[in-house]
Amino acid sequence: MVTVRTISNVAMILLSIMMLLSCTTHSAVLESNENHIKSATFLSEKFEVGPGKIVVKTLLDIDFPRGHIGVKSFDVEVVDEDGNSVPLYETYLHHWFAVKYIENITMSEYIKQSHDLSNGIEFERNDGACQGFLLPHYWGLGGESRGTYSNLPDPFTVELGNPAQIKHEFKEKWLFSIMVIDTRGTHDRKGCTECRCKLMNLPKDFYNVTTGIDGQLLSKNYKGGLFCCQDNVQCKLRNGFRGPTRQLSLRYKIRWVDWDEHQVPLKFYILDSTDRVRSNGSTPIHDCQAEYTIPRNHDNDFPHVKKADIPMTKGGYLIYGTAHMHTGVVNTTLYGQDGRVLCTSNPKYGTGKEAGNEKGYLVGMSVCYPRPGSIKIEDGEILTLESIYENKFRTGAMGHFYIYLAEQIPNQ
Ligand SMILES: *[C@@H]1O[C@H](CO)[C@@H](O)[C@H](O)[C@H]1NC(C)=O
Ligand SMILES: *[C@@H]1O[C@H](CO)[C@@H](O)[C@H](O)[C@H]1NC(C)=O
Ligand SMILES: *[C@@H]1O[C@H](CO)[C@@H](O)[C@H](O)[C@H]1NC(C)=O
Ligand SMILES: *[C@@H]1O[C@H](CO)[C@@H](O)[C@H](O)[C@H]1NC(C)=O
Repeated sequence: MVTVRTISNVAMILLSIMMLLSCTTHSAVLESNENHIKSATFLSEKFEVGPGKIVVKTLLDIDFPRGHIGVKSFDVEVVDEDGNSVPLYETYLHHWFAVKYIENITMSEYIKQSHDLSNGIEFERNDGACQGFLLPHYWGLGGESRGTYSNLPDPFTVELGNPAQIKHEFKEKWLFSIMVIDTRGTHDRKGCTECRCKLMNLPKDFYNVTTGIDGQLLSKNYKGGLFCCQDNVQCKLRNGFRGPTRQLSLRYKIRWVDWDEHQVPLKFYILDSTDRVRSNGSTPIHDCQAEYTIPRNHDNDFPHVKKADIPMTKGGYLIYGTAHMHTGVVNTTLYGQDGRVLCTSNPKYGTGKEAGNEKGYLVGMSVCYPRPGSIKIEDGEILTLESIYENKFRTGAMGHFYIYLAEQIPNQ
């Protein structure tokens, strides 16, 4: 059971307790093809942005396919009131996370009315590997969303809504945790997207009261990252810039199948290149930082490398791999214990103006689809994750590697 107290310690990653409860509008289009794959496109509730504004919100009880299903893909983008795709240089999508929780049915009405999340809700994280409730989501990316495939090959899916696995008198629900940064008119667009503290109008006592990921006060040397991008904080604008506020929302498309015996369930792990894994002799103790700062290094031109050795308690066959990184990434690779390459994900940078191809922005990460059965990770195997960025000062860099593993491969 995760309490709201423990959650709020890692709240930046997850919950700004300021809730927008569901007055979700949706437009669902269902279709079904020969593989019985269904598909629906939803629109989240709206959130307001204005020039330089940072929005950090939790959107509870989002529209989601019901029943015992296997999800094949989950794609998200930001759209305006007319449903037009919003380019990253206007509103930068820092991240969206889809997080699963279960809700006590008899308390649903109370929770909806009171916005009190301290009772009747339990969060259910993915399969690992970070400590506690860090990086708990099942799906989630950022600016690279439009150009990163989320599709899982047949017959593999993420199994949800299995009635045998949901606690009695509880209902499975989903929330979005989002951070968007409206960079219209900002003095330093790139700095704003990196959550550079000195560009923000933070409260005077910010460093006296703000705790970091370890629950300790932030160091005065903390130059930027998630903690400086708080809800409603303003990133510095160019002198005299004025621009209209806008009502935006997330448009998300989910593809799924109704569960049957032909589906093979996958486990989903997020590995973090900042994980400072220790061991107490028998059990690995993860210590993920979620983000890091890349210092300037004028002494050489080598790219910056961040490495972590991460033991996998349970292994499996690699079915899909990709990464959540930020602009500036060179590439990222996951290695097996013997040094074999399990997956390399490479960036795609935009070259134009249109949404999905914004010049200079990271607009996609490549995905590995090894032939199912060809790459096996052993139980207890220690993987090495290597995230490589350009040698430039950067705050809030991320190196999150996403892998889906199958514990069994069906006979051909
Ligand atoms: C659900 O909430 C009700 C009302 O607070 C409570 O009596 C009941 O014990 C809860 N059920 C579970 C399974 O926790
Ligand atoms: C923050 O703490 C320092 C010393 O720890 C103190 O000098 C300063 O006045 C405090 N600032 C605010 C705004 O509370
Ligand atoms: C290590 O941590 C695990 C999980 O918290 C615990 O069960 C185990 O007893 C610990 N072992 C030692 C040697 O402290
Ligand atoms: C990743 O980038 C580094 C640095 O440029 C390069 O040496 C390496 O070959 C790249 N790895 C892959 C697998 O492309």
